[in-house]
This record gives sequence, C-alpha cells and structure tokens, in this order.
Amino acid sequence: MQGDRDGMRREDFIPDVIWVRRDDGWRVPLNRADDPDTWLALVNGGDAIVTQMDDGTDHYDGKGITPTSSSTAPWLMDKMLGLLDLQKGLSVLEIGTGTGYNAALIGEKVAPGRVITIEIAPTVAEHARARLARTDLPVTVITGDGTLGYPEGSPYDRTVVTADVFDVPYSWVQQTRPGGLIVLPLAGSFQYGTLARLAVADDGTASGRFHGEAAFMYLRDQRPDKTLSRIGNQDGAQFTWTSDYPHEPFVDFNAGFAVSTRLFGWVTSTREEDDGAILRMSHRASGSWATVSPSDTGSHAVAYEGPRRLWEELEAAYRWWIDAGRPDHTRFGLTVTPTGQTFWLDSPDNLLPPIGEETTG
Ligand SMILES: C[S@@+](CC[C@H](N)C(=O)[O-])C[C@H]1O[C@@H](n2cnc3c(N)ncnc32)[C@H](O)[C@@H]1O
Repeated sequence: MQGDRDGMRREDFIPDVIWVRRDDGWRVPLNRADDPDTWLALVNGGDAIVTQMDDGTDHYDGKGITPTSSSTAPWLMDKMLGLLDLQKGLSVLEIGTGTGYNAALIGEKVAPGRVITIEIAPTVAEHARARLARTDLPVTVITGDGTLGYPEGSPYDRTVVTADVFDVPYSWVQQTRPGGLIVLPLAGSFQYGTLARLAVADDGTASGRFHGEAAFMYLRDQRPDKTLSRIGNQDGAQFTWTSDYPHEPFVDFNAGFAVSTRLFGWVTSTREEDDGAILRMSHRASGSWATVSPSDTGSHAVAYEGPRRLWEELEAAYRWWIDAGRPDHTRFGLTVTPTGQTFWLDSPDNLLPPIGEETTG
C-alpha cells in the first residue's frame, strides 16, 4: 500500500490541512474535517502532498502560489532510502524535516541508531516534533538552518537532503564521516532536480554520480529568482538575433541536466508553452536575463540584459553535449571539496569547467 510503509502510516504525519491545485493554477486548502475521503485518498496516493504554501504567510488571502513544504512522493522517498543503504545502528542527518514522515521511516530502519532532522520553518518543525513524539523512534527534530548541518551530532554515517540545492554546502561533507554517504537532489537550470549520491572520502571530499529525476522545493537560501526573465523587453533590454533555437534542454531531462552542468551559478530557465514557446533564462546574482523568441525564418529574436550572454552559453553547452554523443545523466558525476563543487563526465578527472564563469567574476 502506497501510504503505509514499514509500519509507519503517512496519514499519521500529514497535517489536517493540505493544499490542492485548482484548475486556475492556485492552490487552495483542503481540510480533512470537510472532506475526509478526498484527504485520505490523496494521502494514500502516490503523489507529493503540499502542506505549506508561501512560507505560511497567507499573502494571497487563503490561496497559495509557491509550495514551501510537503510530504515527498512515496516512490521518491523509497528511492532515496534505497540509495542511502540504511542499516541498523547508523546515525543519520536529514535536512528538511517537513511532516517528519521520512525521518520516521529512516528511524525505523536505523534504530537503535539515531536520526537528527533539521527544519527551518518553526511551525513545520513543531508539527513534526509532535507527530514523532507519538512514536518510540530515535528521531530528534532541530529547528534551524540545515545549510549549516548540525555539528553537535556529527559525524553522521548518512546525510539526506529533501530540498533542492544548486551548491552543496561543505558543512554536509564535513559532518559525514569518511566512508559515509550523502544523498541529495541537485537543482538544475531547466526545472528538473536530479538525485546525487556522494561518498565521503578520507581526504574530506565527496564524490559520486546521479540517479534520476527528483522534483523538490528549494532549500530556503538557494531559491533562484524565476521572475527575472519575465521582465524582458523593458527599458534596459538590448536586442539581437541568433540562428539557434536550442529548445531540447527545456523539454528533455538528459539534455537539460547535461547543459545545466556547464552553466555557472544558479541559472534558471523556462520554455513557455502558452507564450509562443519563448525560451527564458535568468541569473539573479549578475542580474542577467535573456529570451529567445522562435521564428519560422530561422533567425530568432533575442532580448537580453546584464553582463552574461545566457543564450550564447546555452548554445555552446548544448553544442558540447551533442558533440560529446549526448551522454545521459548517469554518466555524469559531482565532486564537492572545501573550495566548491565540480561536475565531471565518466570519471572524476574528466572535469567539466563552467561556461560563463569568467563573465560573472
Ligand atoms: C520537501 S519538504 C521535506 C519533506 C520531508 N522530508 C517529509 O518527509 O515530509 C522540504 C522541507 O525543507 C525545509 N527547508 C527548506 N530550507 C531549509 C533549510 N535551509 N534548513 C532546513 N529545512 C529547510 C522546508 O521548510 C520544507 O519543510
């Protein structure tokens, strides 16, 4: 059964109020007391359940735009728990407690080991703490910023992250013992996160490969600005033309993943199906954005602003991927060191330098 694994029931961790998407795109609350059958069917289904919107701010008068906490889809939790290779007696750090359900599943697998789970949103942490207190599992909920890890409980045998990150904080590597594993969803530039499984080495680095698509909400301090490219065609914009319209990374997971490994910084991109299939890219740190509007003439209009030529970087990275024989994401890897992170193809010494780094400084 989807909602009941290893004795722990998902429904025991999900709050009474969950958020469901309406046809007009808004999410609205569904209260268990008002419609218990629908609530239970959703909770016992196979999808993620959104449990907080817009950081709980209620900016939109009872409706919500951006999901900020959820219970992960059961298939994805299972996959991550499998990648973690959990055994009895291990100590585990989880970043992003959410409902506490994933921490409970980990707790069952490692008891009499221990789980420390960190949640940044105080009300979310409080809910999870209360639900976990009904179990006898060895799980401790810390309210705080998981970017820093939790050095007081280190070293951990395993670290698992349930929020998307562009940059892996070195604290997670530092606090996982040599020989230990880190499983996290790495944020991509094309809306797809990808699961990374990193092994920590004796020299204090962590390295490993990728294992499929995983959609998560962002770690709070690594949220990109997806609105930047929407301001296109305003006063500061410049215009040019290009003969390329490289849309494949926007619609194909492996293409998007590969191109993403070559783009420097937190670049985000969308292709608007209902907006003339315009490609939009933005990079908040440099204030750069670009749009490419397709044309039947083969000469596509580009609008852009800021120091980066994002469409040129996209074209170069896409051409590189084609020339490399279109490798899929499982051939790529990531190494994290105290000074940063690097992608590689096939082997850790075949490094992939970022395109565009030199223009952003
Ligand atoms: C997808 S949910 C977690 C799902 C959860 N593991 C479960 O089983 O329900 C992501 C969570 O990460 C939390 N989060 C985001 N940024 C964080 C940070 N810097 N430190 C700790 N938690 C964070 C969010 O508030 C949210 O509750």
